[in-house]
Amino acid sequence: MAQTWTPNSWRQKPIQQVPDYPDLAALEATEARLAKYPPLVFAGEARRLKSALANVAEGRGFLLQGGDCAESFAEHGADTIRDFFRAFLQMAVVLTFGAQQPVVKVGRIAGQFAKPRSSGVEKQGDVTLPSYRGDIINGIEFTEEARIPNPERQIMAYRQSAATLNLLRAFAMGGYANLDNVHQWMLGFVKDSPQAERYRKLADRISETMDFMKAIGITSENHPSLRETDFFTSHEALLLGYEQALTRVDSTSGDWYATSGHMIWIGDRTRQPDHAHIEYCRGIKNPLGLKCGPSLTADGLLELIDLLNPANEAGRLTLICRFGHDKVAEHLPRLIRAVEREGKKVVWSCDPMHGNTITLNNYKTRPFERILSEVESFFQIHRAEGTHPGGIHIEMTGNDVTECTGGARALSGDDLADRYHTHCDPRLNADQALELAFLLAERMKGGRDEKRMVVNG
Ligand code: TRP
Ligand code: MN
Repeated sequence: MAQTWTPNSWRQKPIQQVPDYPDLAALEATEARLAKYPPLVFAGEARRLKSALANVAEGRGFLLQGGDCAESFAEHGADTIRDFFRAFLQMAVVLTFGAQQPVVKVGRIAGQFAKPRSSGVEKQGDVTLPSYRGDIINGIEFTEEARIPNPERQIMAYRQSAATLNLLRAFAMGGYANLDNVHQWMLGFVKDSPQAERYRKLADRISETMDFMKAIGITSENHPSLRETDFFTSHEALLLGYEQALTRVDSTSGDWYATSGHMIWIGDRTRQPDHAHIEYCRGIKNPLGLKCGPSLTADGLLELIDLLNPANEAGRLTLICRFGHDKVAEHLPRLIRAVEREGKKVVWSCDPMHGNTITLNNYKTRPFERILSEVESFFQIHRAEGTHPGGIHIEMTGNDVTECTGGARALSGDDLADRYHTHCDPRLNADQALELAFLLAERMKGGRDEKRMVVNG
């Protein structure tokens, strides 16, 4: 593929998952408007994320990536964003302190609006309508009108992303993420959960460390790294017209960047090497994610790696593996071996959500045990292959939802109806996310101790 790339060269390629916009002139006009709007993120930030991910690819650090399956216009409140950020910070601090490794923090947020669907239509009773494709495209209500793709929604998604990002930047840089506040990130409904005691103990130890450092003159006032954190955004680059409109040349390097988010990823359904999504992504310089499911062959993966990361630059490509708890042992080792054999530099991340979805009492759900089981296998396999288990990719919320069964509170199939709010896939609630973080920290620490024993022995 030596052909020249342009922000619109993807339009010459076959493409999957395209909404059927009835008014193409209106779509074009909207994209032209968006193309004049300011970028949401800056190239320098994307480069900073790439270099943080390069460290992870080389075995130093861990990628924590998480957020909603689909953001929605209806749930765009300050409390929702704050509660997500709190739950996310708690996970990050558990991982950083517990595993003593730097944690690269990337939200599925401020742009995660477009959803790939397994079918173009949804049937309820005798009525068949176009599928819901995410708030950036159409409405979730099961009416003919709501399901018509409406370009104006792209403007709304852009504005919501800008507002969300603005608040996140304030939280990350303006004092909320200060390690002096580690106790305050505990969410109300988590306070009496089995995880709360564990978190409180860890937070006590951090506070004690902070007090010690204060005594020797190191404070959050004179050390910004104690009060600030780098928080990045990411989403699936599915709606390419929107992505193209926000693709800009970086004036310092002359390179093209997607400015809709810091990192974007390619879905398991849209990763055909000669199709539009790969074409678009290969030309931008942001860090990229590639979802890897059971149908991906080793040769297919190597072909995609050469297209997306021809210079074999560490930090450019994160492989987000989503096989399912019962399939990971079959598929992950063969991909790892191919990548290792060819000396390709990647971050290996585990998405334990998407291969573990089942239907229970008419709800799409994910049993927490299966999520943990895929994570455990992911770690074991990397230990066995001698590679670095570099990250986790999860769907989570800071709200007290009942969407995934299990966890320390043992949510059952009958509990799902209580607070099932997701616009798409079932998410971990804050309690379950924290439980997962403790497990991850233990596994990461285990790996480190093992390495040390090898070095000493
Ligand atoms: N700046 C460091 C980091 O982001 C330490 C830090 C500050 C931190 N606030 C945090 C770590 C909140 C985790 C959570 O890693
Ligand atoms: Mn999902």
